[in-house]
Amino acid sequence: SLSNIKILEQKNAEALLGGGPDRIDAQHKKGKLTARERVDLLLDPGSFEEIGKFVMHRSKDFGLDKEYYLGDGVVTGYGTVNGRLVYVFSQDFTVFGGSLSETHAEKIVKIMDLAMKNGAPVIGLNDSGGARIQEGVVSLGGYADIFYKNTLASGVIPQISAVMGPCAGGAVYSPAITDFILMVENTSYMFVTGPNVVKTVTHENVTSEELGGASTHSTKSGVTHFSCANEAECINNIKALLSYIPQNCEDTTPPLPYEPTEDESREILNNLIPENTNQPYDMREIIAGIIDADSFLEVHKNFGENIVVGFARLAGRSIGIVGNQPAVLAGVLDINASTKAARFVRFCDCFNIPLLVLEDVPGFLPGTDQEWRGIISNGAKLLYAFCEATVPRITVITRKAYGGAYDVMNSKHIGADLNYAWPTAEIAVMGAKGAAEIIFKREIAAAEDPEAKLAEKIEEYQKKFATPFRAAHRGFIDEVIMPAETRTKLIKAFKMLENKVDQLPRKKHGNIPL
Ligand code: COA
Repeated sequence: SLSNIKILEQKNAEALLGGGPDRIDAQHKKGKLTARERVDLLLDPGSFEEIGKFVMHRSKDFGLDKEYYLGDGVVTGYGTVNGRLVYVFSQDFTVFGGSLSETHAEKIVKIMDLAMKNGAPVIGLNDSGGARIQEGVVSLGGYADIFYKNTLASGVIPQISAVMGPCAGGAVYSPAITDFILMVENTSYMFVTGPNVVKTVTHENVTSEELGGASTHSTKSGVTHFSCANEAECINNIKALLSYIPQNCEDTTPPLPYEPTEDESREILNNLIPENTNQPYDMREIIAGIIDADSFLEVHKNFGENIVVGFARLAGRSIGIVGNQPAVLAGVLDINASTKAARFVRFCDCFNIPLLVLEDVPGFLPGTDQEWRGIISNGAKLLYAFCEATVPRITVITRKAYGGAYDVMNSKHIGADLNYAWPTAEIAVMGAKGAAEIIFKREIAAAEDPEAKLAEKIEEYQKKFATPFRAAHRGFIDEVIMPAETRTKLIKAFKMLENKVDQLPRKKHGNIPL
């Protein structure tokens, strides 16, 4: 009837206003966009289709029976990003502070179910005061429904969480289970308990930003993968990330058009490794020299900086890169580097993204701090992640490959498909000095001139082992290549591995050392 059409128009207009103009103003004054503005920025223009626009809460306590907002504090639906289907939920801080009610949770679960059945990513834009306090346990149940879905969806479809406001208490655990977290500097924070509780329990004085802001989580805890200067940058990062990843675990990332040039050799790569083997260099320069121009999207840039991980394109194809970083702590593997890289390797393996490992690693970081915090089980995560990865896997050893770290960094022995080394590679149990000091200890001590003896023995060890050739004689290295040829070799190799099929033994699931 005519009156229903009128009501529809009214309701549509009302839903768009969320918590009303005043609260929208307040949101803008904080330097934040509204839930709907964020969705518009994320999706291709005109592509958004909303689901559950008129949903309202069912609570009666504490005056809620007199306060209703259409949509109940979350905008949900689907649309496209660069033409590819995505599902999105965007919490509306103007409605009950974006707090999560039973119905709010139901809306999120509904689009997650659709996403899983239809094989497309879910993007969550979080901005919420947490559980709807007036609802009590019902809203906690709603959180748990989401966590459960997040876990079931893990490895089936990519899940990306942007934190664009408060995200505290139980609310943190949905983003935590998803594949990537992005945060906005100065307007977002995540913590299990806020500054007031912290003060009571541990007597620490700390601000929200210090405790759980973007910079804290991108440098200290590693909880967030991307720290963004503002909301627009955050949304752009989500789009960039999506461009490298497939829609679901049965899919591969669409390649970009690529015209092979006559000569793919990159002379610059021949000059990047310093003469002195103890001198650092930036692995990012090697990466840039190999991949398609400007295609590197670094993940976890400011956390565990002794390893570099990220996505790139090689001849138009999406690949994941893990590279030791000699410019930081000599590229040593420690707890943070191991867990950071392990998580990245597992993401790539979940979603059929081939892996390239660039190796220059002097070993694991020694010390009580690392041992007592469990470098053994944490280092094992990276080892385990590589061992069980069935995607195409290629390693290029640029310089050092020492000790157990040689095995861990995608060695032939743990299932890498192709292993290359540059002529500058040193594949040995340890550095020549350390090795000589141990195995020639007596001989050196007994020598007339111990220093000269040591130098002689160092040279002897270096000649024998500080090369890629021993490993190549064994077939542990498939080919020793000139750096300039690396790109050409890798383009061919990844193409050759394009249809790789490999399976793990039948099991319920493995037991990665967590
Ligand atoms: N449940 C219900 N309503 C909530 C809420 C929650 N968890 N969190 C915020 N709100 C409401 C507020 O009552 C306020 O309503 P109003 O617009 O009608 O006045 C609105 O959301 C905005 O909150 P406000 O406190 O004014 O915003 P702020 O930016 O100053 O502070 C928070 C934001 C999140 C720090 C603050 O709201 C807060 O501490 N909320 C509770 C967090 C919590 O303990 N959650 C439960 C544990 S999971």
